[in-house]
Amino acid sequence: MGQVTNRTKLKLAVLISGGGSNLQAIMDACNAPGYPAEVVLVFSNQLDAGGLDRARKAGIRAEAIAHKGYPGGREAYDTAVSTLIEQSGADLVVLAGYLRLVSESFVTRWQDRLINIHPSLLPSFKGLHVHQKALDAGVKFAGCTVHYVVPEVDSGPIIAQAVVPVLPGDDAGKLAQRILKQEHKIYPQVIRWIAEGRVSVDANAIVTVTDAKPAEISAINPVLDPG
Ligand code: GRF
Repeated sequence: MGQVTNRTKLKLAVLISGGGSNLQAIMDACNAPGYPAEVVLVFSNQLDAGGLDRARKAGIRAEAIAHKGYPGGREAYDTAVSTLIEQSGADLVVLAGYLRLVSESFVTRWQDRLINIHPSLLPSFKGLHVHQKALDAGVKFAGCTVHYVVPEVDSGPIIAQAVVPVLPGDDAGKLAQRILKQEHKIYPQVIRWIAEGRVSVDANAIVTVTDAKPAEISAINPVLDPG
């Protein structure tokens, strides 16, 4: 078996706005022997995002540009972000709690190389306040989704989902924590699949993961018996 070398690793640009616990999970995965990806850039639209410190501590390039008051608006801002990503040499752009809508031209620029994690089982509960929306709808299971990004918000081909139960006494915070734990498993797993060239999308926007093993599925979906 050939060892995965730095040269063959998939290069990731991770975009964040906040604490960056998903970023941390991805960086931790990248530190594991044989993991086929590495983070080459962390970018935030918030200058004080906690995730920037996490990146710097790990010796990873971390950049921030405040979106507020950026001259030229969203398009110009996203062009600046794209330039940074291009300079980093990233192969895949990973939105990890990047709480900012990206422009259509940004989506086009990174088409098929741009993924997002959303803390609901899409297509249910798009947008903000999704945990409260799930509780208000009375669903008995909730979860998270990793998907390719298309211009329409929280849409795009679904790569993987993880499911958690909604428990009696849950509030939005408790449910968010339970889902976040699954986010930390599902995102590194999806990045591995992409890095290994195992993810394909058909003409109907249905994603197939080649040779997905029951153990891989159950690792990100502990409530499901893979059968
Ligand atoms: C996660 O729940 C993610 O799904 C959502 O924002 C949150 C970010 O958390 N889009 P963190 O910054 O990764 O801790």
